[in-house]
Amino acid sequence: MITSEFDQANLAQSGFTENSGAASLPDVDYLTKLANELFSALPCDGSRLGIGTSAASGGAVSPLAGLGHSGVTGIAPQAVGLPGELELRQLFAPRQPSFESVPDSLDTGSVLGNTPSAPGLPSSFAGLDKSVLSGIFPHDFGLPGAAELQQLLVSRIPSGSNIPGSVDAGSVSGIPSAQDVTVEAQASAEKSADASFSPQVFETELQKLFAANPTSDGSISGLTVSTATPGLASSFANLDASLIAGLSPEVYGLPGEAELLKFFTPFSTPSGSTPESAGSGSSFYFLDELKNGGFNAPGLASAHPPFDVHAVRRDFPILQERVNGYPLAWLDNAATTQKPQVVIDRVSYFYEHENSNIHRAAHELAARATDAYEKSRDTVAHFLNASSSEEIIFVRGTTEGINLIAKSWGQQNLVAGDEIIITWLEHHANIVPWQQLCELTGARLRVVPVDDSGQVLLGEYQKLLSSRTKLVSFTHVSNALGTVTPAQEIIAMAHRVGARVLLDAAQSVSHLQVDVQALDCDWCVFSGHKIFGPTGIGAVYGKAELLESMPPWQGGGNMIDDVTFEKTTFQPAPARFEAGTGNIADAVGLGAALEYLTKIGIQNVARYEHELLVYGMEALKSIQGLRLIGTATEKASVLSFVLAGHSNQDIGVALNKVGIAVRTGHHCAQPILRRFGLESTVRPSLAFYNTYEEIDRLVTTVKQIQSGKIV
Ligand SMILES: Cc1ncc(COP(=O)(O)O)c(C=O)c1O
Repeated sequence: MITSEFDQANLAQSGFTENSGAASLPDVDYLTKLANELFSALPCDGSRLGIGTSAASGGAVSPLAGLGHSGVTGIAPQAVGLPGELELRQLFAPRQPSFESVPDSLDTGSVLGNTPSAPGLPSSFAGLDKSVLSGIFPHDFGLPGAAELQQLLVSRIPSGSNIPGSVDAGSVSGIPSAQDVTVEAQASAEKSADASFSPQVFETELQKLFAANPTSDGSISGLTVSTATPGLASSFANLDASLIAGLSPEVYGLPGEAELLKFFTPFSTPSGSTPESAGSGSSFYFLDELKNGGFNAPGLASAHPPFDVHAVRRDFPILQERVNGYPLAWLDNAATTQKPQVVIDRVSYFYEHENSNIHRAAHELAARATDAYEKSRDTVAHFLNASSSEEIIFVRGTTEGINLIAKSWGQQNLVAGDEIIITWLEHHANIVPWQQLCELTGARLRVVPVDDSGQVLLGEYQKLLSSRTKLVSFTHVSNALGTVTPAQEIIAMAHRVGARVLLDAAQSVSHLQVDVQALDCDWCVFSGHKIFGPTGIGAVYGKAELLESMPPWQGGGNMIDDVTFEKTTFQPAPARFEAGTGNIADAVGLGAALEYLTKIGIQNVARYEHELLVYGMEALKSIQGLRLIGTATEKASVLSFVLAGHSNQDIGVALNKVGIAVRTGHHCAQPILRRFGLESTVRPSLAFYNTYEEIDRLVTTVKQIQSGKIV
C-alpha cells in the first residue's frame, strides 16, 4: 500500500475518524497495521532508532516495521496538547508570497531545501494523513516550538527601520503567534479534559507500541535519552524518555538542530578573513572601521548584525542553481543582478490579478494596474528621496533615460560652442548620446581624466569647467573599475558655473545610498535590472521645474492632453515623457525590488559589500601575475583584473566550468580600459548576496588557472 492510499476515506472505512472519542478508537491490530504503513513511508534510517531495518510491505524499508502490535496511530496529537500537522506545516512550509512584508529571509522552506515552487510539503509528509502525523511536536525532538522560534526571531530584529529582517514577527506569515499558541494549548487542554480522549489513553497506546520493541529493557540502545527541555511543558513528560528519544527530527524530514542553528546563526566574518584596508587615510565609509577591528563598527548593533547573508540568499531562487555540477557563484552583478522571490511573485501577481493598460479605463483592472504602477512610482521617488513622484519617469533603463535627456533637454538647450563634460570612466551609454548631440548641435564633448587608480582628477575637472559648460554627465560608480566618484563635489562644482548635472546611477543604486536632494543633481538615471528588479524598466529622476521645461522626446498615446490635426497639447511630467504603453508589470516589479532592498537597508548592504570587496581585492592581489584594474580607495562591487599569460576569455570560460559567472570583455567602457592599455578585463562584481566562500572559490580557481592546473 502506498501512502497516498492512506487517506481519510480509508480511516473512515475502518471506523476511525479524527477527533473521535475513545469508544471509537481502533483496535490494536488495526493500529499496528496503520503504524507499519506510516513508518514505512517515512525516510527512516533504522540506526537512528537503534533497531534493525526490515522490509516493509511494498518493498519499502521501515525501521519500525518489525515493531509489531501497538497503536501509534491512535496518538491523536491535539488530545495530548500537541500542535498538529497544520502548525508544523506553518512552521516549516515554504513562505507564501507576501508583498507587504519581507519575510523572505525567514524563509524556513529554504532550511528544508524546499524550492518555493514545490507546492505543499515536499518532504516525506506528503500524502500522509494528518491524523497520523499530527502528534509530532517540535519540543519533543529538541526543536524550538512556535513560541521559541518567534522569540528567536523577535530577539534578532535589530532596531531601526532599515534592518532586514525588520520583519514584524507577528506579521510573518506562517509563524503562529504566541497568542495562537496559547489558544491552541488551551483548546488542547479542554480537549484533554475529556476523559474518554485523555492523554493517558494515548500514552498507553504509545507504551504498547514500544513495549513490542525488541529492546526489552525499554531503552533504545546507542541513543542518548534526552529529557524534556526544562521549562518547556511536554505532554510526553510522563512517558519513559527512552521511548521517544530516538525520534529525531531528520527522521521526519524536519530540519535538525544543526540546520536550525545554522539558519538562525547571524552572519559572521569568517575567521582569518577580516579584510585589510585597501588603502590608508581613506575617507570612504568603511575602510577605517575595518582597520579598527572589523565588522562590528560603531553604530552597528554588534549583537544583531544587519543581515545573515545565507538567509538573504534564500530569497533568490536562482542562487540555488548548479552550473556544471557546481553551486552557481553569481559574480556578474554589474551586468545584471538576480531577482528575489518577492519580485518574481509581484510580477506574476500583476499578471494574475491586475493586468490591464493604465490610466484610461473605468474598469476594475485598469484601476488596479494604475494603482500598482503609480504606487511603484511613489516607491522610486521615496527610494531616491525625490521631493515628489512627479519627478520620476519610467523608462526602459539607464540607456533610454540618458537618451531621453539628450533628445529632450539637450536638443532644446545646446547650441554650437556649448560644452558637455563627461569623465573617462563612462559607460558607452553616457558617451554616445552626447556625441550624437554634439554632432547635431555643434556642441563639444570634454572628458575629465582619471589617475592611475581610476579616480577622477578633480583638479583637471576644474580646469575644464567654464561658462561654456552646459552639462556635466558622469557615472556615480564605474562599471569597469568600480570607482565611486566624488559625486557631491562634481555636482557642486558644475553648478557653480551654471551647468546642469546628470548622474548615471546605474552602478550605484544597488550599493550606495543615492539621495537626489542631498546630492542636488538635476537628473539621475538607473536601470531596474541592476537593482534586483526586472529588465526593460528603469527610471529618470528630474527636478520638477526642469522636467516641466523639457519638451517630449517621443509622441503618441498617454503623453497627450489633447490632439487635433492642427495642434497637440501635452500632459505635464512625468506622463509627457511616457509615450505609448510602458512596461507596466515590470515597473511594478521594480517597486517590489526597491521595497525589498529598503527593508534590508542600503547602509547594511554597503557595509557588508565593502568588506567583501576589500577581502576579494586583497586575495586577488596576492596571486602572482594578477593585475587589479581600478584600485581607487573609493570603490564598490567591481574587481576587474587581468592575469599575465592568460586571455581574459579563457579565464571566464575556466571559471564557468566550476560554476563561477564573471564578465569578460570591454564592459561597454572601452575608453577607460584603453586608458589602462587594455582592450578587456575579467570583471567579477559583487552584490550583497555574495559570500566569502564564493570569493575564496574565485581566488582558488584563478590560482589554479595561473599555475596551469586548469586550462
Ligand atoms: C554605468 C552604467 N551606465 C549605463 C549602463 C547602461 O545600462 P542599461 O544597459 O541597463 O541601459 C550601464 C550598464 O552596464 C552602466 O554600468
